[in-house]
Amino acid sequence: MGVLEPGDVTKPWTLVASVVAVSVAYFVGSIVYRLYFHPLHHIPGPWINAVSRVPYIRHLLAGTTVVNVSELHAKYGEVVRISPNEISFTSGDTAWQDIYGFRTGKHKGHLSMLKDPAWYAQPPGSAHIICSSNEDHSRFRKVLSHSFSDKALANQETLLQGYVDLLINQLKDVTSKDKSPQDLTQWYNWTTFDVMADLLFGEPFGSLQELATSKYIHMLFDSFTAFKYWYIMYYWPWTKRLRNWILDQRVIQNRLTYYKFVASQTQKRAQRETQRPDLMTTILQHNGEKGAVISATEMNNNNSVMLTAGSETTATLLSGVTYLLLKNPEVLAKLMKDVRGRWKKYDDITLESVNNTPYLIAVLQEGLRYFPPVPAGFERRVGKGGEVVSGYFIPENTALSVSSYPTGHSERNFKDPEAFVPERWMGDPRYADDKKSSINPFSFGPRNCLGKNLAYAEMRLILAKMIWSFDLELDPKSDDWMKRCKVNTLWEKPELAVRVKEVVRE
Ligand code: HEM
Repeated sequence: MGVLEPGDVTKPWTLVASVVAVSVAYFVGSIVYRLYFHPLHHIPGPWINAVSRVPYIRHLLAGTTVVNVSELHAKYGEVVRISPNEISFTSGDTAWQDIYGFRTGKHKGHLSMLKDPAWYAQPPGSAHIICSSNEDHSRFRKVLSHSFSDKALANQETLLQGYVDLLINQLKDVTSKDKSPQDLTQWYNWTTFDVMADLLFGEPFGSLQELATSKYIHMLFDSFTAFKYWYIMYYWPWTKRLRNWILDQRVIQNRLTYYKFVASQTQKRAQRETQRPDLMTTILQHNGEKGAVISATEMNNNNSVMLTAGSETTATLLSGVTYLLLKNPEVLAKLMKDVRGRWKKYDDITLESVNNTPYLIAVLQEGLRYFPPVPAGFERRVGKGGEVVSGYFIPENTALSVSSYPTGHSERNFKDPEAFVPERWMGDPRYADDKKSSINPFSFGPRNCLGKNLAYAEMRLILAKMIWSFDLELDPKSDDWMKRCKVNTLWEKPELAVRVKEVVRE
């Protein structure tokens, strides 16, 4: 019995047939399980997403996840199963607190949800503030938060203003000689990366001076692609064998070179004896206070995060808002009237005064809703025992998030979500029912954005000075600019071609 006799040809086929039958049964069984018996079977969504990760990964590779997830929410409601173990919420008014909030009040005693390892890749050498454990995170935050206080920000104003003025003067100079449209995405990137490099390394990239993007910034943008593949390899470990084939080695190399560059700039700056009021002076002053010590490698990796988190995001929002203003002439006209009537002269535009400009602030807020610079992600994992989120019981180890872009574009939360209406943030009664607390573009809770105030300061100064100084007109080739932006961790943005004309005053 069971021994293959020579000449017996039927038994191998029986074996093959059995293997095929078992595989088919397993395949069908796992589909039936994921659809009807999986602990997430009660969460709405397309059946194909519940049984397979392929549809989500297809959109991940195409850069269309946020548009796709928005469509799924429009069809299935405020909670959607976007892949077999991943849930997306647009009920931000309650889900932010349930997923990301401090464990106080009704959440006291509940486990905090940890960052999802499928999304948060570790950098070389040590963790950084964004992907660190909760213990390391609170140590990092203790040291770093001093650099982002109101007092520190006020001291950084001269440095900030210097770069905003350089942006304006260079734009005036270039457009006085060259009437062709300018790529404002590039100009904003040059500015914000120069600001952050100066705040962290004591010297800029020199992009605004040279009107060129540094090779290190190109490398950084290139390396964003690695996060998608990190996600894919996490869920499909067999793809690691194809790593060299699917992931361009240049991407990995560029990522390492970028980290090395940041490390060398950080250490060079740390050796310098200076009291210039930048981020690093304050970080170095407070490192080691009350037992919170950041090692040299951790400092390098934190600087790498801050350089990216502090530059690309702010430049994205400014690009998005500029585009939205140019597509909504009545909003632009109102902003121009406000900005140009508010200040008598350019030099009166200070940090203090831009903090008292309700319309400009509302324009930026609406921009954050419409085009959030971190459009997706911030995924967390539910801890042991599961958790109730927005009234839905979600079992442990499920990956979940409030999806930023879909939340801001959901009719559940905002009236006319596809309209750009700053007035909704200024008490306009037509928008009284908007669920404003549903969006948190800077995230929420203990791991929210540390640089929020710096970001607001930069965005307000730059937008105010741009509108004060220039008349802007969208070039037809950028008419569908926002549609052509793709999600590659952050937004991958094409050229934003704008005709820029200096306002001539008596
Ligand atoms: C419009 C501009 C900005 C937006 C929309 C933004 C958004 C965010 C978001 C969503 C997170 C959470 C990321 C996550 O959990 O995965 C974050 C974290 C962070 N951001 Fe920002 N950010 C902006 C500007 C800045 C600036 C100017 C800085 C300055 C360095 C900065 C520094 C940080 C840091 C250090 C963290 C990590 C905080 C922590 O984990 O405790 N960001 N930001």
